[in-house]
Amino acid sequence: MRRRDRHRMRMRLGRALLLLVCLSAVGLGALAPAAASENNGVATTPPMGWNDWYSVYCGVSAQLVEQTAQAMVSDGLKAAGYDYVNVDDCWMASSRDSSGNLVADPTRFPGGIKPVADYVHGLGLKLGLYEDAGTTTCAHFPGSFGHEAQDAATFAAWGVDYVKYDRCNIPYGDFPGQSVQQVQQTLYARMSNALAATGRPIVFSLCNPDPTDAPWEWAAPIGNLWRTTTDIQDNFGSMLVNFEGTVDLAADAHPGAWNDPDLLQVGNGGSTALEYRSEFSLWAEMAAPLIASTNVSALSPTALSIYENREVIAVDQDPLGAQGVPISRRNGLWVISKPLQDGDRSVLLFNSTDTAAPISTTATVAGLPTARGYRLQNLWTGAVTESGGRISAFVPAHGVVMYRVRVAHRPGALPPHIALSLAPAASELRLGESTTVRETFENDGISEVKGLKLTFSLSPGWRLKRLGPARAKHVAAGHRFTVAFRITAPRAGAPVTLASVAGGASYDPPALPMRATSAILGERVFGPLRAPFKTADTTNYPASFGESGNGLAIRARGAGVFAPANAPASDSFAAIYETARAGPSATVQTTVTYDPAGGTSGGAGLIERNTMSAPQGSPAGVALFITGSSTIVMAWNAGGGQDVDSRYQVPGVLVRAPVTLRLVRDGATYAGYYSTNWGISWSPVDTVTVAGAAAAAQQDVGVFHASGLSTWTTTATFSDLTVH
Ligand code: GLA
Repeated sequence: MRRRDRHRMRMRLGRALLLLVCLSAVGLGALAPAAASENNGVATTPPMGWNDWYSVYCGVSAQLVEQTAQAMVSDGLKAAGYDYVNVDDCWMASSRDSSGNLVADPTRFPGGIKPVADYVHGLGLKLGLYEDAGTTTCAHFPGSFGHEAQDAATFAAWGVDYVKYDRCNIPYGDFPGQSVQQVQQTLYARMSNALAATGRPIVFSLCNPDPTDAPWEWAAPIGNLWRTTTDIQDNFGSMLVNFEGTVDLAADAHPGAWNDPDLLQVGNGGSTALEYRSEFSLWAEMAAPLIASTNVSALSPTALSIYENREVIAVDQDPLGAQGVPISRRNGLWVISKPLQDGDRSVLLFNSTDTAAPISTTATVAGLPTARGYRLQNLWTGAVTESGGRISAFVPAHGVVMYRVRVAHRPGALPPHIALSLAPAASELRLGESTTVRETFENDGISEVKGLKLTFSLSPGWRLKRLGPARAKHVAAGHRFTVAFRITAPRAGAPVTLASVAGGASYDPPALPMRATSAILGERVFGPLRAPFKTADTTNYPASFGESGNGLAIRARGAGVFAPANAPASDSFAAIYETARAGPSATVQTTVTYDPAGGTSGGAGLIERNTMSAPQGSPAGVALFITGSSTIVMAWNAGGGQDVDSRYQVPGVLVRAPVTLRLVRDGATYAGYYSTNWGISWSPVDTVTVAGAAAAAQQDVGVFHASGLSTWTTTATFSDLTVH
């Protein structure tokens, strides 16, 4: 079978499987058991600990596990509540012993697992181990299929306290007539029962990271936690995808049974500290397991301060065990409220967009009783303020503000809650253009503030003019004061620059420390595109395009040119291109210099089609791009229909921009290449044939970007687009 046909076949099989899973999900939903839990007495609060996967993948060893356990004690993680030390895939030898028992890899675990468990127990910690319900694990080590009782007994004998159980390589053919879900339920229940039969309390963690398995509908009676989403990557977009896939499942979580949006990436370096604080806060608000998957022996003070935020941990570990529920989510601005056992609420304001924005709710909407004043404890700054009801903040792009809120016992005793926000009239400016920014001070307290003075500052090169008074003698409780500023972008600049806009406020009563709040505003400067460039935009939100020197920039939403297998096909992206530029033997090249996109479908790269002016009408062509999951993908239309129906991902390769991409056309056949050293050396991606490509004709060609989500805007940049 030719490669093209293999891809088509895979696509068809994937869709048939998806249909089957959807149908069985409908059927099972009707029969879903009432909320019940694995009755093993463990994980009454979400598990906390460490897992090696995202720091060493298959490089786990006894030495690493013991060093990590030691570090967890010495750096305070154990004291903060992290007690599981979990070994992921690849701990095993490649085959069982002559009695069919699992054996640890003799080089990396020379004494086997038992002494490692003893060591970990000696430090007051617990040991976790990974296995799989299929014939082999995802990394192709022996699976537990047909050995469930034997393996459970082995785990108990070794002193294992936690089993993460995957679902790779299940022999579905052995279960004729059963759906994927039914087979998974059977096999997970087998291991659950086998673990129970050992008499040792063992946390049972279901790892079935395909959302179409819908484990939240059926896993609670057999497991303590279940994966809700695909494997998380160390970037904001991936975190957002896993958050969005979990946040609406609150009804399925309760003590002993938790939704698991995957391991924490905090500390791995692919996101900012602010984004890691968001990840940690969102996981805590969702009562998710807090399992660090990083090198905890070398955590930066910032990462450690995130992992060890006692107040946020307390929200996650609250004994009521309720997952937070979203109370609003307008335009990517989220408010989530989590009830806590003592009657407090954890109220999380999350800005998933890439522009700072005010987010607010009220105490009663968040579920608190009516009262004159509320005590707001900011769980990241420690500030304690009092509000007459509004719970608000100006939240940075990708950031959170997290409050623990309760009724104030002595109204008037605490400083007033203040929100200071900046609202630009335009979110993007071209070179030399101006816009107005309004700075608003909001007194959410129950008493007036006096002597208010607002300040404003801007990045060098930008011009600033105040349009009204910046001082107010009084701002009454519940009232606002606003001043407007006119800002003008520089006359020349790079295709994408970021202006920092800072607002500050000082005010009385003097008994309080003077305070100032600053904010960053994502103003981007684009030079206009020059001829012969044209633009295409098939997203649900206007994209922006810019050019400067050899650089191009695209700021856009969009699911991508190819949707993940479990979503409907999509063709939603923005592109800068040239009409009829690539002939039958053209070579097209660009360097993606920045790709912030998220997930497996968002990304940035080259696109070549019969025509781009109506991209949805002419998918005949190829895209070569790097995804938000740092993979290199080629996606094309092999079948001649309206979908980009085929996709190939370079296996085992993770890259980060800058990556140079090259697409070589030979009639209707395209060869893709990538380079991580600016074109000094090249690696092949794939060679594919596009049935509908107008083999003899010129095609439209250019660069494209999709953020990966229809609710989220990101900017990608490119340099040196050449066609010859
Ligand atoms: C799957 C899981 C990951 C990890 C790997 C190990 O991808 O989802 O969490 O356990 O397998 O192979």
